[in-house]
Formats: sequence, structure tokens, C-alpha cells
Amino acid sequence: MCGIVGYVGGQSAQDVVVAGLKRLEYRGYDSAGVAVPADGGLAAAKKAGKLVNLEKELKDRPLPAGNTGLGHTRWATHGGPTDANAHPHLDNAGRVAVVHNGIIENFAVLREELTGRGHHLASETDTEVVAHLLAEAYSSAGELAEAMRQVCRRLEGAFTLVAVHADEPGTVVGARRNSPLVVGVGDGEMFLASDVAAFIAHTRSAIELGQDQVVELRRDGATVTGFDGRPAGTRAYHVDWDASAAEKGGYASFMLKEIADQPKAVADTLLGRIGASGALHLDEVRIPPHELREVDKVVVVACGTAFHAGMIAKYAIEHITRLPCETELASEFRYRDPILDGRTLVVAISQSGETMDTLMALRHAREQGARVLAICNTNGSTIPRESDAVLYTHAGPEVAVASTKAFLTQLVACYLVALYLGQVRGTKWGDEIRTVVRQLSDIPRQVEAVLGTMEPVRKLARTLADRDTVLFVGRHVGYPVALEGALKLKELAYMHAEGFAAGELKHGPIALVDEGLPVVVIVPSPRGRSVLHDKIVSNIQEIRARGARTVVIAEDGDEAVVPYADHLVRIPAVPTLLQPLVATVPLQVFACELATARGNEVDQPRNLAKSVTVE
Ligand code: F6R
Repeated sequence: MCGIVGYVGGQSAQDVVVAGLKRLEYRGYDSAGVAVPADGGLAAAKKAGKLVNLEKELKDRPLPAGNTGLGHTRWATHGGPTDANAHPHLDNAGRVAVVHNGIIENFAVLREELTGRGHHLASETDTEVVAHLLAEAYSSAGELAEAMRQVCRRLEGAFTLVAVHADEPGTVVGARRNSPLVVGVGDGEMFLASDVAAFIAHTRSAIELGQDQVVELRRDGATVTGFDGRPAGTRAYHVDWDASAAEKGGYASFMLKEIADQPKAVADTLLGRIGASGALHLDEVRIPPHELREVDKVVVVACGTAFHAGMIAKYAIEHITRLPCETELASEFRYRDPILDGRTLVVAISQSGETMDTLMALRHAREQGARVLAICNTNGSTIPRESDAVLYTHAGPEVAVASTKAFLTQLVACYLVALYLGQVRGTKWGDEIRTVVRQLSDIPRQVEAVLGTMEPVRKLARTLADRDTVLFVGRHVGYPVALEGALKLKELAYMHAEGFAAGELKHGPIALVDEGLPVVVIVPSPRGRSVLHDKIVSNIQEIRARGARTVVIAEDGDEAVVPYADHLVRIPAVPTLLQPLVATVPLQVFACELATARGNEVDQPRNLAKSVTVE
């Protein structure tokens, strides 16, 4: 939520910052701005709307040349998406510029204080107070980094701040509490960004910043301290993907590319985790086996799509380990006083590793003594850093706001956690684990096969572009898949879409069904637990009898559904537990195509942002 870039080096700061913002625009696209200390002053430009508006402004009125600068793309919290509320914000003398991600909770008190001292604040944002406080602190501290430390000690809430000052044209200063900020280390140039994507074209060397730290960046290096001014430890790491991974690669949208990336993302997430004997090696799960054997309850916390992965994890964990498992929306978790202790294992799932609700849930869990295992796609992000252990998904950068490949890799990671717990606790033995692992290893090929048969799904989606409502139903692990299908359609096509457990239809939702209503049904495998399959075939008949137009997703060879399917989408036969890995793909394609047919921009849906760093 909000993208931030800072730069100091030998290149044109405006160019480097704007190119970085382009890669961060998925984080928010309500406005964009840049500032460059130059010619003894500070030049800034900002525009409401997408980054192209700012680019046009800079083309018409370029900023003076400078090698230090900062920039921002905004997801509005305080104040609407206007030019005045766009970042950067400057003090009244125009000597200091600041950009911010997060929420400053005590901004109203600070604002009142500042107005009392004669400051004039021009925007409705919480951020602007920081520019004014920095200007005041600078006049006594005489140094931007020290001014930042003094100001941060007064702020409450979550914030990443980056600032420049006209009197220090070779310095960029950043600070972070609860919101992301990473340092990029180049050759004679340094970067600051909310996400490595902003500087990956220049360097793959990065430094994580910890909680409550201030960083002062110069061309030749960085100095990191705590808010109290004491030197702080940092961790350097190498980014293991390159700039091409964050490009569209010839696809019309990032979403299409990321859907197509899924076979590789799944394969990469399995890579190196399965030993020659078929046993799992999850060395990164640093919780010792004897502690995992003592666990008596698992709680999964996550938001949105990651929550749907967590719902599926519950089926896998309970089935494989026989441990009770609850899955909770992270935003609800800590407010209901959950029962947790040293024997509870909390699994926090987050693509970005920065989702504030999930972060707060895991902090709450750790305060109660629970151990936390993160499943995360972003190296160096806050959630894995604050967890006891982390299992990284290797989806590569996910740029489209709607999650696709991250979801599939989260599922793979959940299955691996369930199997690993089963292995360590002895509830599953060698051969059983080897069988599931073999089935998982075959998933990339099966996802590839599904992707090759999507043309009829696209065609169907286009015919439904003028509908108001689409329902999704499933049973067992097909129920979270239905929820995920509905979420994708809501966020991309802005349509009324709902997912239901098929068994619940008769308890109310079936009243929604009328002539021609599209209902997508995810059908479990007829093999194995065939009772589930037979029940859903009855559900399909019930809705069809009331006029629904059924879109049936069923495995190859399932002939029982044929008479009741107005549209039949075939997926490969895989065990029921793993079916979400193949059944979700047509729903992603369906939502993407339907949204495109309605003229929507699929990579940046309205009102959303990729990384939700406010509660
Ligand atoms: C939906 C979507 C969101 C995220 C949710 C959690 O397509 O992307 O629902 O899944 O905001 O984000 P992470 O996984 O970054 O914690």
C-alpha cells in the first residue's frame, strides 16, 4: 500500500525514481509524485491519478537535474486522491520533502500543535505534519537523519517515511515502523524502496531494515540507527530473481503472465524440498522437531486469497496430522481473545509479508507464547522476520493486484507443512508421504495442461460480460475454491459474485437462483470419497431445476455430470485434497477474461492495492 522510492547516485534521480515507481504502481495508484533537491532548493511535482499523469507533467515541465530524489505512488487513506493530497509533502519554506506509507495515528494532535505554532498545512493528509515537524527539528538538529529520529519518536502508528532536504543534496533519509522499506546497494549509488522491484534493474544486493530504524543513504553507503540514535544491526541479502521476472514478457497484462507462470511457480516451490528418499527436507522450518511433536493445535491466519489457501490448509493439516486446525481471518483473530499457548502452532500466510492484519495477528499469537510459522513470497519482509520460522513460496514477483500464482504456491506450501508435520509427528509414514509428494510433483504438468484448454472458458466469460451476478459453489476443498473464484470476479469484474458451500444452498442461497443465473460448480473427484461427488451432482440438479445456467468444473472422465452441465470445463484427475491446484486455474482465467470484456483494467482494479499495510 503506497510505493516509495529514494535514490542517491550518479544518474538522473527523476528518471530512476519514476522508473522505480512504475514497478511499484501495483501498491497504489491514486496519485504519484517526485521531489529532487537541486540548485540549492527543492523541486517537486505531483499529480492525482495514475503515474502516467505525473509522467506527462514531468514531460511538459521537467524538474531541474539532480542525482538525489524520492517518489511516491499513493493508495489514499487520509484525504481523497487529489493533487493537494498527493505526496511528496513539503514544509512551508519548501526545504524538506517527505513521502509516507502507513497511518500516523496521532496526526490530529500534531497538526493542532503545528497550526498553533503558525504552520500552514495545505492538505488533508496525516503525512504533511511530518514535513513540518522535520523542518522544525532540522533547524535545531542541523542534520536530516537526526531530525528524522527526533520526529519518529513522536509518531504513533505505522509508517515508512523517506525524506530529502534542500541543504543536504547528497542524502536521502528513511525510517520504518511496521511498514516495509528495503535498501538497494549499487555501485556508487544507493536506493530505498518499499519493495526490491523498484531497484532490481540496477542491483540485486539488498539490506533489510528492522523495526524502528532510521537509515541515512549517501552515494557511498548507508548508516542505520535505531530511533534512539544507537547503531543498529541489519541483514544483507541477494535478491534471487531478476528484472525480467517483473516484466510482462509479451502478455497483455501482468495477470495473464502470472496465470501462465503457475506451472513454474509450483515447481519452484517444491524444488529442493523433497529428498531422494521421498522424505521432506524443510530445513528452513527452524522449530525443532521435539517442539513440533508437542503441538496440540494449529491455527492458520491470513487475509483474502491467502485466507482461502488457509481454509484448504485446514483440510490438509487435519487429514494428514490429525491435529485440530482452525483457520481465521487475520483481521478478526486478535479481537476475539483466541485461546493460544506454547503448544499452539500458528501458520501465517502472506504473499507480500507486509499485510498489517496478518502481522498484528502473529504478534498477538507470539505474545501468548504460540510459535509462528510464516508462509511468505517476499524475502526480507516483516512477517517472516517476526516469525519463528518461514517457508518461502517461490512464485517470483506477483505484480497484478489480484493474486494468482502466489495462491497456488501458498497451497503447495500448506500441503508441505501438513506433510512435514505428519512426518515429524509420525502420523504419516514414508510411503504415504512419498505418494502425496509424487502427486504434488506432477501438478506443474497438470496446471500446464489446464492452461492449454482455456479457450472455451474465455469464450464463455465474454458471453457473460453483461450479467449482474455469478454464483460459485463447491464442497470440501471445493468450497474455498468457490470463494476464491467469487473473490477474483468481484475484484476484477466489479460484479456481484458469491461463493457457497453447496450443502448450504438449500438453507437460503438457493432463493437467489432464477432463470439463466450463471452458477459455477466445482465438482470433487468421483473416485475415492465418491459420496461428496454424488451429493454435488444432486446439488447441480437442484439449481438447474430452478433455471440456473450451470458451468461445471469436473475431472476428466467424470460422465455423471454431463447431463446437467450447460458448460463443462474439464480438469485433470488428481486426488480430492489437491484438486484446488487445478480447479482454481479456470476460475482465474474466467475472471480475467470477463473483466477485460467489461473494459476493466485487470492489473490495477479500482479501490485496491497489492500490499495492505494498514489495518
Ligand atoms: C486477492 C488478493 C488479496 C490478498 C490479501 C492478502 O486477489 O490478492 O485478497 O490475498 O490482501 O495479501 P497477502 O497475501 O500479501 O498477505
